[in-house]
Amino acid sequence: MLGFDNPKKALLTTVKEAVDNSLDACQEMRVLPEIKVEIEFLGNDRFQVSIEDNGPGIIKQQIPNIFAKLLYGSKFHAMKQSRGQQGIGISAAVLYSQLTTGKPAKIISKISPRSPAHYYELNIDTRNNAPDIIKDEEVKWDKDSGIKIELELEAQYQKGKRSIDEYLKQTAIVNPHLHLVYINPEKEKIEYPRVTNEQPKEPKEIKPHPYGVELGILIRMLKTTTARTLQAFLMQDFSRISSKVAKEILEKANLQPNIKPHSLSRLEAEHIMNSIKQTKIMAPPTDCLSPIGQDLILKGFKKEINADFYCSTTRPPSVYRGMPFQIEVGIAYGGNIPSDELAEILRFANRVPLLYEQSACATTKSIINTAWRNYGLQQSRGALPQGPAIILVHICSIWVPYTSESKEAIASYPEIIKEIKLALQECGRKLSLFIRRRRIAENEAQKKSYIEKYLPHVGIALKELLDLNNAEQSKITEILKDILEKGHER
Ligand SMILES: Nc1ncnc2c1ncn2[C@@H]1O[C@H](COP(=O)(O)OP(=O)(O)OP(=O)(O)O)[C@@H](O)[C@H]1O
Ligand SMILES: [Mg+2]
Repeated sequence: MLGFDNPKKALLTTVKEAVDNSLDACQEMRVLPEIKVEIEFLGNDRFQVSIEDNGPGIIKQQIPNIFAKLLYGSKFHAMKQSRGQQGIGISAAVLYSQLTTGKPAKIISKISPRSPAHYYELNIDTRNNAPDIIKDEEVKWDKDSGIKIELELEAQYQKGKRSIDEYLKQTAIVNPHLHLVYINPEKEKIEYPRVTNEQPKEPKEIKPHPYGVELGILIRMLKTTTARTLQAFLMQDFSRISSKVAKEILEKANLQPNIKPHSLSRLEAEHIMNSIKQTKIMAPPTDCLSPIGQDLILKGFKKEINADFYCSTTRPPSVYRGMPFQIEVGIAYGGNIPSDELAEILRFANRVPLLYEQSACATTKSIINTAWRNYGLQQSRGALPQGPAIILVHICSIWVPYTSESKEAIASYPEIIKEIKLALQECGRKLSLFIRRRRIAENEAQKKSYIEKYLPHVGIALKELLDLNNAEQSKITEILKDILEKGHER
């Protein structure tokens, strides 16, 4: 199953799907997220995972479908920046738990302080892709609103690279407004405090841009539109289509503007697709994106990484295939970061850490294709740079082009690669300035230490040569030291 290909990854994916959803839900409700993740080891490769949030909760009628029906989500058709986009995530985790342990998912949901909490135990009826409700009751839950999910699954717990611990730490870096409590299977409590009360900017939903639409989607849109004519359909259901542009598209497709959209054949839809490609259409609006921002990247970095130098860059928004996107880069350098290894890469898409498929990702390719020697890091041909550096790359978009449904690597669209490289170069220049300044300071400090070491000897030699008394000797040594140090300051 996607994202669950080995026991270690299964544990990570389960937590990730739930936490991503919690963060999306809190963002939508404009509430500062309080999330608790607890993983308990039950023995024999069994774990109980529980994730709790303070989001809006889910209304009773929807709970079974959301957790026990695959491909049921609210974000799939929305052209809006969010962590989830497929409607597979959480039900896949439920399915994995069910397949490996036979245990139902346990859910508590509460939507307001005035309404009761609902407790469900759910299985997925896999033959019909429908929820199988085992228990459905009202319970008391001392909380205004939110969701708590409990799943039992077969898995493996390990710290280190690509672990849950790493995922949560990285999540805290790019979500500085999150307060997270994590209790790991060793019963250790790890707390990530909130470092800003600033909510991320609310991402806006936009209509699809014609350049980003696939034939299948166009056909579905034609079937479900409320517009009565083709002309109205194009103007109303897409962004950036004026009446003039709509007329031009339909003229090229040889279709009458007043035809009913529902009556179009597949071939006619294809004609529209082709004529869209040949028509010049203004780029989509880009104010729909919600980047982290330079300052908050630095805050997040400083909170979790002990380095000597930090820098960050947020590029202006750009567009690939009709989809607005924006790139951010941060670099942490020196301090506790190991200096004899390849730089560590932290990849994020819509604030979600990407831990697998690093080499297949557009971010890695862009980093490899940047000339890091210019910026003070060592680099072998075709490799990542080497040195005490952590490089963070964040892409936010209304539709992140993952290479597969498991959402692990970003596809290499030339527009995306170009933007990542520009952001890396901007940060690279800041880094090289720091490294150069530090080298100069180090050289000078070394010179100063030589001076301090040898000057007394020069004093002794001068005393003998010029036949000085002790007072004269120390005076002359002082003067020499003064001259050399002043020169050093200059
Ligand atoms: N903690 C939660 N609070 C409120 N709503 C939630 C929560 N978890 C899930 N949902 C709702 O359930 C839907 C389905 O979630 P699911 O993770 O299966 O899909 P998704 O997040 O839309 O996409 P993806 O498959 O990419 O994760 C979401 O779209 C959201 O509307
Ligand atoms: Mg999801």
